[in-house]
Amino acid sequence: NRLLLVNGPNLNLLGTREPGVYGTDTLDDVFALASATAKDVGFDLRAFQSNHEGALIDVVHEAKADCDGIVINPGAFTHTSVALRDALTGVGLPFVEVHISNVHAREPFRHHSYLSDVASAVIVGAGVQGYEFAVRRLATVLA
Ligand code: DQA
Repeated sequence: NRLLLVNGPNLNLLGTREPGVYGTDTLDDVFALASATAKDVGFDLRAFQSNHEGALIDVVHEAKADCDGIVINPGAFTHTSVALRDALTGVGLPFVEVHISNVHAREPFRHHSYLSDVASAVIVGAGVQGYEFAVRRLATVLA
């Protein structure tokens, strides 16, 4: 029983990046929260972050072999990447899309996601707590 947590570009800067938008928790804090939540619901968690689209696609492909579902914050690739969408639909694992900020209250180019219509659930604007919600939801979906 394993979940994959994927964070996309610039999320390695969490904690110092636009704290008014994304808060002050770091990516390590996100890993800790998601891992603890996963453990609570009976899953191991593997975490991966990359600033590179192809690396994100590769890790999604690899998840098919040994993960049951994916929590993903694709960062700006949310709004640009047909390739990441195709990777997720290609492996067919259920996934929950997370955005720390409320993308719908921001610039119009953040209102469209290439992933949302194929996601199991979408959590936006809940801060880093959204990762906890996503892990719990995925566990429910997989039960
Ligand atoms: C984000 C929202 C995206 O629009 C942005 O490009 C990010 C982070 C979020 O978590 O709120 O990098 O996915």
